[in-house]
Amino acid sequence: MKRLLPVLAAAAFALAAPLPAPALADPLPPDASRAAHGGRTPDNLRELARKLGVRMGSAVNATALAEEADYRRVLNREFDHVTAENAMKWESVEPQRGVYAWEDADAVVRNALRNRQQVRGHTLVWHNQIPAWLTEGVADGSIDAAELRKILRDHIMTEVGRYRGKIRAWDVVNEVVDDDGNLRQSIWLTHLGPGYIADAFRWAHQADPRAKLYINDYNLEWNTNKINTTLGIVKDLKAQRVPIHGIGFQGHLGIQYDYPGDFADIMRQFTDLGLEAAITEADVRMVLPVTPEKLATQADYYKRMLSTCAANKRCAEFTVWGYTDRHSWVPDWFEGEGAACIMDENLTPKPAYHALLTVRRG
Ligand code: G3I
Repeated sequence: MKRLLPVLAAAAFALAAPLPAPALADPLPPDASRAAHGGRTPDNLRELARKLGVRMGSAVNATALAEEADYRRVLNREFDHVTAENAMKWESVEPQRGVYAWEDADAVVRNALRNRQQVRGHTLVWHNQIPAWLTEGVADGSIDAAELRKILRDHIMTEVGRYRGKIRAWDVVNEVVDDDGNLRQSIWLTHLGPGYIADAFRWAHQADPRAKLYINDYNLEWNTNKINTTLGIVKDLKAQRVPIHGIGFQGHLGIQYDYPGDFADIMRQFTDLGLEAAITEADVRMVLPVTPEKLATQADYYKRMLSTCAANKRCAEFTVWGYTDRHSWVPDWFEGEGAACIMDENLTPKPAYHALLTVRRG
């Protein structure tokens, strides 16, 4: 299964992806952009965040946080927002039924609070990284629909309750629409019906009334089927007065595909409904080997994504899915691809990092 997952994921991303992009020219060296924009280029992403009024975040690898001083230092210097990459997922926090393992999630939150970083909770309801006891119990019939609903409620109440007041925003439901625009097949849809989405938001709100509650997805920057269905879900939830506050665009792009040029308009369609927006998992992968031209295109894609956020008053956060190629998920999932992050394995900033620093509001 582990071997199959990357293939399936790669296929899902690649099949529905837009056409190849033309290579762009070399990026401006960091200093050349200053004159063009007038004003001083920020020294780091935290300073940029203050200037733009957009929180700058990174996914956090809990093992690296614990074991790598340089990783910790750069994370805390550059970012004012963090998301646990895996540590808050169901299989991580409740590997056996009723046996909780909060160490890694707690460590991410503790480090954030110490370093004046806000936190995105990721994620409460997903079809992936669910513990085996749950999937097996549903499959063999020992967990029926009524019990599954109770288990989901308990999970949400327990996890959101544990971090009440410490999480700025939760990805309540993740990837609930497939690339054809249908509600994704999952144990949740099959056994609880589509109402599980509204239930999840209501329970999360009960457990932490101040947290911003998000629906989060990939390919939402360009996939019309997925966009339309997701807009429909949001309208429907709002009509039912379900507490939904945000739309998360994951932002997993690749330079071998055209940049999604309608992204700003798409974001506006959601924020016009009164939602906050965030780019929650930005990265821009490439087919290896790395070349200066590819890094230039990557820098342009990152810059355009952040510019879209900075131009929309309701876009509150721009989070990268890991800031260093040292720990990126990409090479494990897309054969022959990588180098997707804004810093390389040695934590040296790439052109993409410098390009982000040149983004201006509006
Ligand atoms: O936990 C085991 C560990 O015990 C073992 O030593 C190690 C050896 O390979 O594997 C560990 O599990 C891995 C887990 O990450 C934690 O590191 C899994 O094999 C691996 O498949 C898993 O990948 C994660 C993936 O979600 C799983 O769906 C990636 O790190 C993570 O970046 C990725 O994140 C998702 C977002 O949550 C949602 N959006 C898409 C994004 C990218 O797929």
